[in-house]
Order: sequence, then structure tokens, then C-alpha cells
Amino acid sequence: MPRSIDRVLITGGAGFIGSYTVDLFLEEGYDVIVVDNLEGQVHGGKLPSYFNPKASITIGDVRDRRVLQEYLRDVDAIIHLAAAVGVGQSMYQVERYVDYNTRGTATLLDVLINTENRVRKFVVASSMSIYGEGKYFCEKCNRYLNPGLRDLRQLQERRWEHLCPTCGSELKPRPTDEEKPLSPTSIYAQTKRHQEEMCLLIGKTYGIPTVALRYFNVYGPRQALSNPYTGACAIFTSRILNDKPPYLFEDGEQLRDFVHVKDVAKANLLAIERSGADYKAVNIGTGKPTSIKKVAEIIAKALGSNLKPYISNRFRKGDIRHCYADISIAKELLGYTPSIEIEEGLKELAAWASKEKWGALDLFEKSLRELEEKGLVG
Ligand SMILES: NC(=O)c1ccc[n+]([C@@H]2O[C@H](COP(=O)([O-])OP(=O)(O)OC[C@H]3O[C@@H](n4cnc5c(N)ncnc54)[C@H](O)[C@@H]3O)[C@@H](O)[C@H]2O)c1
Ligand SMILES: [Zn+2]
Repeated sequence: MPRSIDRVLITGGAGFIGSYTVDLFLEEGYDVIVVDNLEGQVHGGKLPSYFNPKASITIGDVRDRRVLQEYLRDVDAIIHLAAAVGVGQSMYQVERYVDYNTRGTATLLDVLINTENRVRKFVVASSMSIYGEGKYFCEKCNRYLNPGLRDLRQLQERRWEHLCPTCGSELKPRPTDEEKPLSPTSIYAQTKRHQEEMCLLIGKTYGIPTVALRYFNVYGPRQALSNPYTGACAIFTSRILNDKPPYLFEDGEQLRDFVHVKDVAKANLLAIERSGADYKAVNIGTGKPTSIKKVAEIIAKALGSNLKPYISNRFRKGDIRHCYADISIAKELLGYTPSIEIEEGLKELAAWASKEKWGALDLFEKSLRELEEKGLVG
């Protein structure tokens, strides 16, 4: 029986998550078309060597209607991953982030509904960052809470955990589900919310089955190691490869949900092939919390380094304390189950990064200075 979806357009398909998604879709027999502008900060304007030659790529921008008009006509589905992805950076490059992410998505949707095409499925990359803080529980009061950001005074006193507003005891983190009210705490997160909501709204209005996948902290080989504005795993790895200890904010006990990029690519495939999550937003993580410190230690060990993480006891404004996913909806509606344990996945990242060693410039200190100059760290 012929599949109804044969050709897939992947925006941002030369990127970290995009390239794994491209590989998986090709393996599954799809035709894959990529539109990617080879963003300087990520690729230095060059097509990465890992890019699969079986996919066709157009070097172009999602904010460019002409590029989109040309390719949209001929595809059955779209996976929209193109975005500027630095949380901290978005706080001083406000216009650029809104332009790439919000306007880029707006242009894509505008072309989608105003030109002739046969697109029958749309998947957009959303993010855990739109939740702000995760979900918490007070054991003494026996109730769930959705606190906002910790206030500056508390952070200046180096009291890192959230406190119950009723009884004052420390709140315990709980898995964050999709019902948790959204509270983005950076411009980046706000634009991810825009992207998610615009895509779901247009999808519903025009009857184009659309799924927003809220990825948690994605890691794995091909992460842009020298991009100091991306994820903790890449930053720690390039620090260690440059003989510097991973730099931890607060006490390093912040909990996150680290999900391997291959599991995320699988989620993208499931969202295209199954209809259970149509018109919904779905968490994609592992459901298991890991502290930032633990991640730094696992990476150091995997790289054969004795460096211990440096606990700075400093904080970044806007940082949340804990957030990890409740993935029941993804399991139930998409049949998604993450398959890669963190130790195994980080070993793979370390092995790949060791080979890339000379490509791993450690620009972390530069990015820290930028945050300091803007008064974004305390
Ligand atoms: N990596 C994570 O932990 C994570 C977590 C949650 C959500 N996401 C989302 O997943 C998506 C992919 O992220 P990634 O980690 O692979 O980042 P990435 O930077 O590796 O990939 C993004 C790709 O998009 C391209 N791009 C950027 N702006 C573009 C534009 N205007 N036009 C065309 N192409 C453009 C870049 O060149 C790059 O290849 C993003 O939407 C991101 O917000 C990532
Ligand atoms: Zn309480």
C-alpha cells in the first residue's frame, strides 16, 4: 500500500537534531528535502561533513518566501526545526531571535496557507523552556505548586531551592506534564511558545494535522561544540577537551531531563507517521531527572579526564531550578519510548567529541563575560 507521505521538507535539517532526523527519514525510505541557511554561529556557513548526501539541500532562509514557495509545492509533510537556539543570547539579541523564530515561522505558515500545496502533516520543534520552572510538590502541605522564578534576593542569598509560600519548607521537583501553565523566562522561550501556538492554531484552522514536540535537553554527537550558547553537554565537553573544568552555576544540583538526539529523531518520525498526537503539544524527554553536576561528572569520566566540575555558586538571571518531563502522553499517543540511557549516550558523545577535539573551541568564558557585561549573572 503506498504511503500517503513520501516527501518531507525538514527546515534546519543541517543542524544537530535536523541531521539525525534526515538520516532516520532516509533510512525509512522517505525523500528528504532540507532548507537551511547554514547559520554562521552553528556551521560557519559551511555544510557539515555529517550531512547525508542522499538528502537534497537548498541553502536558504525560512524568512525568504521565494525559497519556501519553490519547495513547499512538492512535499507531503514539513518538520520545522530551523531556529536560533541560544537561551542566554536571546536576552541581548531580542530582535534577531524574534525575527528568526517568530517571523520565520510566520513566513512558513503564511506560504503554507497561501500557495498551492499538498502538505498533510506539520511537526514543529517546541521546547521545555516554555514551561519556565517545572512542577513541584510540598510534602508538608501535600499539594502541587507551579512556582515562578526565584526572586533576586533569594538567589543573592545563595538559597537555591524553591520554598513553599505557605509553610516555608523546600519544595520537591515532580515530572512536568503538558498541562502545566506556560511561563517562558527568556526571549528564546517566548519565541518557542509563539512557534508552537502559531503552528497549532493554523493547523487547527485549516485542518492540517500539526504536532508540537516539546523537546527537553537534547544531547549527542554533532552538537555544535564550539557554540557557547547551546546546551550544557556540548559546553562541558568542549571545556574538558580544552583542559578546563566544567563551570556549574548555583550548586550544580539543578535537575534536567537529558534526551538523546536519536530518541528525538524517532519522536519526529512517530509524530509524522501516527495521528494520535495531531493538534497537540507533547513532551519529548526521558522522564528521568539528572543533575547538571552528574552530567559534568559522567562526561569527564567518559573523556578519561580527572577534572572535577567547578561549582561557581553564581547564578544566571532567568534560570530555572528543576524541570524534567512527564512523558506519559508521548507514550500513549505516539508509542514513544526513549531507548538510550544517559551514561551510554554521554559515552557516545565523548567518543565523537574526542575525534573532533581540534574543532572544539572553548568559547565559554567569552559568553560568560557577555552575560556579566549585561548584568545577567549574579
Ligand atoms: N537542542 C536542544 O536541546 C533543543 C531543545 C528544545 C528544542 N530545540 C529546538 O529544536 C530545533 C533544532 O535545534 P538544534 O539543537 O538542532 O539546533 P541547531 O542550531 O543545531 O539547528 C538549527 C538549524 O537551523 C538552521 N537555521 C537557523 N536559522 C535559520 C533560518 N532562519 N533559516 C533556515 N535555517 C536556519 C541552522 O543553520 C541549523 O542548521 C530548534 O527549533 C530548537 O529550538 C532544541
Ligand atoms: Zn508547604
